[in-house]
Amino acid sequence: MTALTPDDWAPASFVSAPTDLLTPAISRTVVLDRPLSALRSASLRWTARGIVEARIGGLPVTDALLVPGWTAYERRLRYREDDVTALIAAIFSLDFQLGPGWYSGRLGFRGQSGIYGSRPAVIARLEILYADGHRQIIATDDTWEWRATGVVSADLYDGQVTDARRSATPVAGRVVGAEPDAAILEPHLTPPVRRTQTICPVRSWRDEDGTHLVDFGQNLVGFVRVEAAGVEGHTITVRHAEALESEKLALRPLRSARATDTHVLSGGHDVFEPTMTLHGFRYAEVEGWLDSFAPIEQSVTAVIVGSDLDRIGHFTCSDPALNRLHENVVWGLRGNFVYLPTDCPQRDERLGWTGDIAVFAPTAAFLFDVHEFLLDWLRDVAIEQELNGGRVPHLVPDILKHLDDPGDLPAADTAIWGDAAVWVPWALWTAYGDVTVLRAQFTSMTAHGERVVRLLSPEGVWAGGFQFGDWLDPMAPPDDPFRSRADTGVVATACAFRTFATLAEAADVLSDEIAASRWRLRAQAARDGFRRMYVRDDRILSDCETVYALAISFGLLDDADEAAAGRRLAALVEASGFRVMTGFAGTPYLLEALTRTGYSDHAARVLLQTEIPSWLYPVTMGATTIWERWDSMLPDGSINPGEMTSFNHYAFGAVADFLHQRVGGIAPAAPGYAEIEVKPLVGFAGLTRAETSLETARGRVRVRWEQLDGLDTLEIDVPDGAFAHVDATWDTKTPLSAGVHVLTRNTSA
Ligand code: BGC
Repeated sequence: MTALTPDDWAPASFVSAPTDLLTPAISRTVVLDRPLSALRSASLRWTARGIVEARIGGLPVTDALLVPGWTAYERRLRYREDDVTALIAAIFSLDFQLGPGWYSGRLGFRGQSGIYGSRPAVIARLEILYADGHRQIIATDDTWEWRATGVVSADLYDGQVTDARRSATPVAGRVVGAEPDAAILEPHLTPPVRRTQTICPVRSWRDEDGTHLVDFGQNLVGFVRVEAAGVEGHTITVRHAEALESEKLALRPLRSARATDTHVLSGGHDVFEPTMTLHGFRYAEVEGWLDSFAPIEQSVTAVIVGSDLDRIGHFTCSDPALNRLHENVVWGLRGNFVYLPTDCPQRDERLGWTGDIAVFAPTAAFLFDVHEFLLDWLRDVAIEQELNGGRVPHLVPDILKHLDDPGDLPAADTAIWGDAAVWVPWALWTAYGDVTVLRAQFTSMTAHGERVVRLLSPEGVWAGGFQFGDWLDPMAPPDDPFRSRADTGVVATACAFRTFATLAEAADVLSDEIAASRWRLRAQAARDGFRRMYVRDDRILSDCETVYALAISFGLLDDADEAAAGRRLAALVEASGFRVMTGFAGTPYLLEALTRTGYSDHAARVLLQTEIPSWLYPVTMGATTIWERWDSMLPDGSINPGEMTSFNHYAFGAVADFLHQRVGGIAPAAPGYAEIEVKPLVGFAGLTRAETSLETARGRVRVRWEQLDGLDTLEIDVPDGAFAHVDATWDTKTPLSAGVHVLTRNTSA
């Protein structure tokens, strides 16, 4: 990627409006140098500090929203380049509606705002090319004008106020030059955020005060489009929430985010689309809906907004509850991949928490093509490390570094959260087989590994210091998610081993033999330290599900110890009544660890569990996304009293990886699925069929199995150039090469 030099933007400079208003429009009128018939092409290069919508002659330049998204603004600001030839007229207006967005708006759970700057600013350069070779350049400078618009205010957390009477506000004055940006302007290469779907209400009703409530039937991320006609100056207010409590919006989980849009009517026919904000919601409360308006169900629509990624992976099976669980994982991704991977989309966070994506990346990479998307985010990981002496911050982009007092989140290296710098690139390499990611990230990956090495004790373990550990262990009190049963040293050392081993493999791929052997030695030392310090008489220190799940799945134990760990894990799972007694650290690996040690029946019972804590309990409660807590909603319909109670957190959705690989039978045996391991757990959890598919770079892989009348059938589509290694019980010559294969085996005998 080549970043443009300042000359490529010349003579454009950042400009802003000299006002406290965070939502001005900046514009000018353009008169063509030649007749319109002489126009050959026109191209607009543009971006903003804040968010920006560009219009030519009143028409949007792109369907991308919330441009330019959020990056480590101190160093990196993406710009767009759009072909605008079709929008050019002999005389036209060029308009940029600004909003504060991540740059100047509210951001983070400590009530901060304006972290990167107090005023939004735009830079743009329009290049018009004529048939005779003449070039006309229109660039932002201090001759441009600004005005207030119908967007009275906008904030990602709090919502947008739109006054439709103010669409033709007069010019307020000239803009001023904003400081040149230290951030490097670079092209936007990842799929932009767009409107990806619309949903109509499935139910609407009125509460005792006459206020309308609307249920869209799906917890989603976006905004509500409202259409209304008449009554100039009348106000309609839309509040959003993910859940109801006693038939009212449950607003407490949003914490300080107001999530409220306000629309003031023009008197004509108005369509409100608050595109400079974003909400995570399933329900909306609409105040001010008059009886004279059209019926509310026909007038409000949920517009789903998110990074417009290609869906590549699918899974369905014979159990509708598991299918719903899988759907919920997909919705969790759609709502939280908004230019960057976030923890949640609704409360005063929506931040790039590194631990969440560290565990979810393999699942994400199967469901959608997230290669460019996560590669882009990893660049910010590397930048933030550079700004932090190699340390991976808890959040990327890191806003905590701008706090005077870090409170309970000290600037420390942490397992899982910090390991994102290694685990996410590895997940991409495994899923897509494109070495670009390892080449680009190896310095960042190594920097994290080196810092962990320095934190190891003389005994070779990573103990002490600040850790999130098995964050949100279901046994931890609602107000203290840090208090997990798993020893933080056990968790951290297991993760350190995995990180070192992954670094060794990455170095192998990059043919860096010296680094590979060094990391291999470190991995071995961490493994030795783990076993020496934490494994005693078939028990692992702190003796809870998470420590066994990690030790088994990461390969920390020798065969005999692993078998014993599997037995102990199975016993603990049995003792808990087959519930999920793990937090962020252990949950992604629990079913895999049980299955690998021969306890797939236990894994099946845990997966099918519907009592708290379990994956299917939320499904029985009508969940349409993955919840942050196993019991974000309690059985009586009330909301968990904890401060962290989101209904849209993808981390626990990492279980979908198990569905794809183990239940479905599509696991990568070589990077990019050049070789595929097809060993589905036919009949797992009483299922009679499962179908899984994935679009790989080579083509489509599909595995379908069915159990019917004593006959198992396995259909496998292998794309060109790939091989499938099939479970030996299928009695076939393996590996299978490209083509459609149908295998059967008799189970009645
Ligand atoms: C976020 C999590 C995150 C955690 C770490 C929470 O507020 O929502 O998903 O990883 O903090 O402390």
